[in-house]
Amino acid sequence: MATASFATRVIPGPTPLPLVGRALQSYKLLHDPLRYLRHHYQTYGPLSGIQRGDTSSIFAFGPEYNRILLSNATLFYTIFETITPKRSKERRRGIGLLNMNGEQHRQQRKLMMPAFHRKQVEGYCADMVSYTEAMLSRWRPGQQLDMAEEMRELTMRIAVKTLFGLDLAHGVHGVGESLRLLLDAGVFSPAVAMFPIDLPGTPYHRVLRLGEWFEREIMELIAIKRANPADQHDVLATLLHARDEEGGKMSDMELIGQANTLFIAGHETSSNALTWTLFLLTQHPGDFADVVDELDGVLGGATPSVAQIGKLHKLEQVIKESMRLLPPAALTSRISTAPFELGPYSLPKDTIVTFGQYITHHMPELYTEPDKFIPRRWETIDPSPYEYLPFGAGPRMCIGATFAMTEIKLVLAMLLQRYRPAVQVGTQIDWHMRVTLAPRSMPMAVEAQDRQFTKQPVGGNIHELVDLR
Ligand code: HEM
Repeated sequence: MATASFATRVIPGPTPLPLVGRALQSYKLLHDPLRYLRHHYQTYGPLSGIQRGDTSSIFAFGPEYNRILLSNATLFYTIFETITPKRSKERRRGIGLLNMNGEQHRQQRKLMMPAFHRKQVEGYCADMVSYTEAMLSRWRPGQQLDMAEEMRELTMRIAVKTLFGLDLAHGVHGVGESLRLLLDAGVFSPAVAMFPIDLPGTPYHRVLRLGEWFEREIMELIAIKRANPADQHDVLATLLHARDEEGGKMSDMELIGQANTLFIAGHETSSNALTWTLFLLTQHPGDFADVVDELDGVLGGATPSVAQIGKLHKLEQVIKESMRLLPPAALTSRISTAPFELGPYSLPKDTIVTFGQYITHHMPELYTEPDKFIPRRWETIDPSPYEYLPFGAGPRMCIGATFAMTEIKLVLAMLLQRYRPAVQVGTQIDWHMRVTLAPRSMPMAVEAQDRQFTKQPVGGNIHELVDLR
């Protein structure tokens, strides 16, 4: 075990190899962060560290460290990478709530909160329902499809409509297309982060150009909204007109940054939660039957109203358990703004601390049989905000949590009444970290809802994260 020179006491961690050691650790962390963190936790325990260049990077796991890091937003700033890489002249446009800090974050969050209050979210339900209905009407019983792709497309359409007031019914708008290409081009990949070389042919160059395209699309949208102010109920329109007590409003740059951030934060996460939940139901026929019984009892085949959603307790347990086992936001980082103490260690300013929702959610001292999908456990457990945190916790908790839970429940309630998604024996189910914890694909058949719930064993690296026996 190594010594790490940045702490006054020795923090456990790997011994860097001569010359390339530090770069190698950084690469492993960026390339495969979840496996790297799990390895650190299993090998070194709740607190460990590595040296990355001049920066100390430490890993802190468990509810008590989650509380320290998440409750003090002044001492621990976010360092969420922007969609536009660091050296881009467009970078400032990529700054949104996720990567704002201090007074700016407080002021902007206050301006944005009304757009995400429960009452406002209820106003987005009609759009959520009609896009889901359109998707379900397109499917045919017995059809094979990639459920991950279907859910991504659906949540993107819902996001673009509710956030920006745009209808993508006839093809994918430039906003969505440019973002998708950005993610495919590896905007958060090690190749881009470690080799920021703006020359034609490099991954960094491609990401820069796509980032500029994405931002131009958002700017165009803001101009359209300004020119047509009447009768707009989307989030962006609300933000355009939001004022704080002193009459302060968002600048154009802030609006663009917030739009970027909301779009990024607001659909990939929900789409993963939906896909993982559907997959877990296919693997647990008893829970699947319970959910469909509940839907029959409460809805009797109808489209759910907002009030009825609140009565779907089994469905809620299934969603909570799915986001415990496979949290779409599986890990988070902060940087310290001053020297601080963590456990027995004194650490300097500018220390990067990474902690993992996934790891907390799989701690056997918090959850019995933590790798198993047991929705019923929610009848008896009531974890603290730092023990169960799929939406984060503290002053920076997800602003879209009510939006997301409403959307996920509506989509599942409609889908599962009509179809029974099923995987074939031996289907390869692999996860990867694409900013979020995502399935690589989710090949499924959508049978008519005939209640023939049977489990078909699958292959793939999903078995690393979930005990499906
Ligand atoms: C299942 C879906 C979702 C999950 C799992 C999720 C998860 C999270 C988490 C863990 C954080 C805290 C990050 C941190 O502490 O650094 C967060 C923040 C945030 N989320 Fe979500 N999110 C989801 C859906 C949404 C939606 C639908 C929106 C908007 C439409 C949204 C917008 C945001 C924003 C703006 C922040 C930053 C809040 C701040 O820093 O004050 N999220 N989300």
